[in-house]
Parts: sequence; structure tokens; C-alpha cells
Amino acid sequence: MPAISFQSVCKTYPLARNQSGTVLKALDHVSFDIQQGEFFGLLGPNGAGKTTLISILAGLSHASSGHVLVHGSDVLLDYANARRKLGVVPQELVFDPFFTVREALRIQSGYFGIKRNDDWIDELLENLGLADKGNANMRQLSGGMKRRVLVAQALVHKPQVIVLDEPTAGVDVELRQNLWQFIAKLNKQGSTVLLTTHYLEEAEALCSRIAMLKQGRVVALAQTSDLLSAASSNILRFKIDGELPLHLASQARITGRIVQFPANNAREIEQYLAAVRESGLVAEDVEIRKADLEDVFLEVMNEKEVREPRAMDLAGAMK
Ligand SMILES: Nc1ncnc2c1ncn2[C@@H]1O[C@H](COP(=O)(O)OP(=O)(O)OP(=O)(O)O)[C@@H](O)[C@H]1O
Ligand SMILES: [Mg+2]
Repeated sequence: MPAISFQSVCKTYPLARNQSGTVLKALDHVSFDIQQGEFFGLLGPNGAGKTTLISILAGLSHASSGHVLVHGSDVLLDYANARRKLGVVPQELVFDPFFTVREALRIQSGYFGIKRNDDWIDELLENLGLADKGNANMRQLSGGMKRRVLVAQALVHKPQVIVLDEPTAGVDVELRQNLWQFIAKLNKQGSTVLLTTHYLEEAEALCSRIAMLKQGRVVALAQTSDLLSAASSNILRFKIDGELPLHLASQARITGRIVQFPANNAREIEQYLAAVRESGLVAEDVEIRKADLEDVFLEVMNEKEVREPRAMDLAGAMK
């Protein structure tokens, strides 16, 4: 039985319109399963539908059509069972300012009928760098600390399925490392993890399988290693002082002075460098590196048409 099963999930917001004036489809027939024990990444640009899908999974929002099952329990028809199996870290920081951290975690335990939970609460606080914050009031915490408390809250009832909606936004480097170590440990012990993040390095390092959403549709679904090997094998990277002509810029990933082109072989690399030279620019600090998940993500998102996902032949389609 899959840990999570999304079955043709659609969500429309009747009052929201997209640019062409039609009703916005936040989710358009999203179907895929996440197996028990997987560390699964859900990626997509802002507005792709990630949080909408997670809200439906968590029972906070209803699908317009389709079904979502958690360990076989329908999130609508069998809410209590589905909810008990899930620990959800929401994207938005929501908390009650009147409680201390420990009180908030005890109350959350109470929702799940767990009475004496302080040993586990202590372990959570310890692992999330909150050991000295148990008695601090929620409103006294910094943004990053509040997010850590949200993670602790999601885990108080030792859920089998952990869902994290951008858990590391605004969290410092050290805690990000601690958090991932802790989540990876829970995953090794058998928990399923569903993660959304805009830090593609984190997704590449952690997730064994990835789905990419674009405008509410699944446009890629594959093992992380297959996504990487299907991408252009190399990336040419250099710095320039001026502005690239449009025909070159449209093919590049540009971050300030740094320009990167996907290039499969030496001839392509030479062609790009020659084109840069011909446009009167000088390429400095030239490097060639392997494509990473960010390159794959950009390739998938820049494909002109949103088309049906073809998980297996995605590799060919992206070449
Ligand atoms: N309550 C709502 N009413 C109308 N439209 C909504 C509502 N909630 C979300 N949307 C729209 O649904 C689409 C998907 O939003 P969603 O929050 O799921 O995106 P996301 O992938 O989580 O993006 P981000 O990376 O920014 O968190 C967007 O176009 C958004 O404007
Ligand atoms: Mg979101």
C-alpha cells in the first residue's frame, strides 16, 4: 500500500482567473503515488500548486475532484485515520503567541490523545536546536526558531508520513544541516518524507524520487538519478563584464555576471565561447561542471508546452 496516493486531483478557484480570463486550475489531474519509506521531493516554481496539493493532503482544503489516500485512508471520508498518520509542517508561520514552546507541543500532543510525551518532546527540542527554548514564549522567538517549532509540532505524534512545505525557508545553515540529519534519521527508521523546497541542492541530496509541478500539472516524475543523467551532461560556466546578446541570453542561466550554458560536448562548448567572443565580450574564469538538479529544473520548466507527464521517456524528451 502506498504511503500517499494522489488520484487525479483537481483544484479550481472559481473566483481566480489566469491571464487569459479562464478559471485558474491550481491543480489539473495530479496523479502519483509515494511509497512507504520514500524520501520524495515535490518541486515547482511559485504558484505551481505545491501548497495547494499539501493542503488537500492535510485536509485543510478540499479537492474539486479526485481522491487522496494516506496509507489507504481517504483524507475526506476517513479524515481521523489519515490525519493521525500525517505530520505536516506548513509553509505559513502560524502559531499561538500565548503559549511557551513546551506548552504548544504538549497541547499538540493532546490533540492526538497522547498524554505523557515529554521524553519525545525533549528529544525533538534537542534535535531541532531548541533545547534552551522550551520555556520561551512563542512570540519571543525569531522567525527561524518559530519554523523549528512548527517542525517539532508536526512530529509530536511520531507520524509515519512527514510532509514538509519549505521547512528551511529562513532557517540558518547550521540548523538546516541538523534538521536534515534528523529527518534523514526518521526516514531511515521507516518514515515516509514528502518535501517541497526551492533549495534544489537540498532536494538533490535528499530525495530519491522527484515530481515537478508546473501550472498545476505534473511535468516530470522520476528517480533523481534518472533526472540528472537525462539532463545535458555538462554545464559551461564563465563570467562576463557586459550583456549577452538576446539569442545567447535566452539559452543561458544568468546570475549577475555568471553565465551558464548546457553543453553536451566539446564542440558545443567551443561554439558558445566563440559566440561570446564574436559579440565583443570576454569570458573569464571559464569552468566546465556536471549538470545539477537546478539545471534539470530549468530545462523542464523552460519547455514551451505543458504536456502530459511521461515518466519513463522523460529522459529522451529532455535531451
Ligand atoms: N485561496 C486561494 N484563492 C485563489 N487562488 C489561490 C488560493 N490559494 C492558492 N491560489 C492559487 O493557486 C495557485 C497555486 O498556489 P500554491 O500556493 O499551491 O503554489 P505553490 O506551488 O505552493 O507556490 P510557492 O512556491 O510560492 O509556495 C496559485 O496560482 C495561487 O495564486
Ligand atoms: Mg507553497
